Amino acid sequence: MGMFSVGKKSAPIGLDIGTNLFRAVQLAPGSPKPQLINYGSIKVPVGAVVEGEIVDVEAAGYALSQLWKTAGFTSKNVIIGIASQRVVVRLVGMPYMDQSELAGAIQFQAQDYIPIPVEEAIIDAQIVSEYLGENEEKMMEVLLVAAQRDMVNNTVSAVEQAGLKPQIIDLSAFAIVRSLLADDSFFLSEEGAEEETAVSAAALINISSGLTNIVVVEQGVPRFARVTPLAGNDLTQAIADSLGLTFDEAEELKTKVGLPEIGGEQLPVPSDLPDNLKIHVEAAQSIMENQVGHFIAEIRRSLDYYLTQATQIRNITRLVITGSGAKLNNFGAYIERGLQAKVEIGAPLNQVQPSPKIPPDMLADDELSLAVSLGLALRSFQ
Ligand SMILES: Nc1ncnc2c1ncn2[C@@H]1O[C@H](COP(=O)(O)OP(=O)(O)OP(=O)(O)O)[C@@H](O)[C@H]1O
Ligand SMILES: [Mg+2]
Repeated sequence: MGMFSVGKKSAPIGLDIGTNLFRAVQLAPGSPKPQLINYGSIKVPVGAVVEGEIVDVEAAGYALSQLWKTAGFTSKNVIIGIASQRVVVRLVGMPYMDQSELAGAIQFQAQDYIPIPVEEAIIDAQIVSEYLGENEEKMMEVLLVAAQRDMVNNTVSAVEQAGLKPQIIDLSAFAIVRSLLADDSFFLSEEGAEEETAVSAAALINISSGLTNIVVVEQGVPRFARVTPLAGNDLTQAIADSLGLTFDEAEELKTKVGLPEIGGEQLPVPSDLPDNLKIHVEAAQSIMENQVGHFIAEIRRSLDYYLTQATQIRNITRLVITGSGAKLNNFGAYIERGLQAKVEIGAPLNQVQPSPKIPPDMLADDELSLAVSLGLALRSFQ
């Protein structure tokens, strides 16, 4: 900031590096909640991002500069969210030390826990809890995050090439937690005060086009995170492949029809569906049912893995879904049945006060897709 600049420095903008879209959210201070003043997205150039990682820095950088131009953001500072199967998140037990000691110690110990060579990794570690070990010695649980240095460098380069200033690199997974963590009560059971002291876990699942993020939180603290490439595009692609339709046609079937109601009557074919697609409704639905079965199995594997490590939690009874993929008709009911857990649709906008300048209809439509970018922007308000 220059010497004579006036006014508050703008808060950094949350930037979600997706595989299909780059999305950004700008918040401003507000009371009682931060104000959502602007958001926007731009299509990722074909091939520039592969499974969450920027591989074409030039093309990605150009797209980001276009996004800033068209959306008219008033800050160049950004908090970047990354999501990739190659980012490792592990909960590990270590002898107790304080956070400053941990920063040094982790460099030596991380190799035991991560598959990436330490020299090639950027490592971060946060103390999550303290406990007593077998011999009554003080121990701590640490959430270890390791990302391939190349991946992070590419992301930073693309952002810088767009003339932006990266402030923080975060995980999309942690952003989702922030955007759903309305208040602590959200993560406590509603069954009355007695239960509220018991530890409970919730799984947050963000389904976008190219990747799905799965995070498990206990009392609002993330303890497990995984990324799977099984996401919205797979549903569309499966319909397109099986029925010999274009991707766009399959997308239209998916979004307008969705899954059939469980045990319910077949609903009338949506009238806004083009005639050439109407004949495919039933076939598309059974393809979607099948795909959703795979998806649920994938989620179950992740949650089971988490449960083998969890000490106080025996099952996950609560799931919150976000990402536009969560809009699939009847999806929640299928997940509830498949995982025997209560499913809610997340509401990231509860965290903010939207500016009256943003058309409410548009915002309501986009809400689920903003979970990551909004959660990133929230980081500087906590
Ligand atoms: N009504 C709907 N029913 C089913 N799926 C939907 C619906 N609306 C959107 N989707 C799906 O949601 C996905 C897009 O989700 P979202 O907008 O969160 O991700 P994105 O930002 O485009 O993707 P990425 O983060 O991978 O770049 C697409 O697969 C799209 O088909
Ligand atoms: Mg996205």
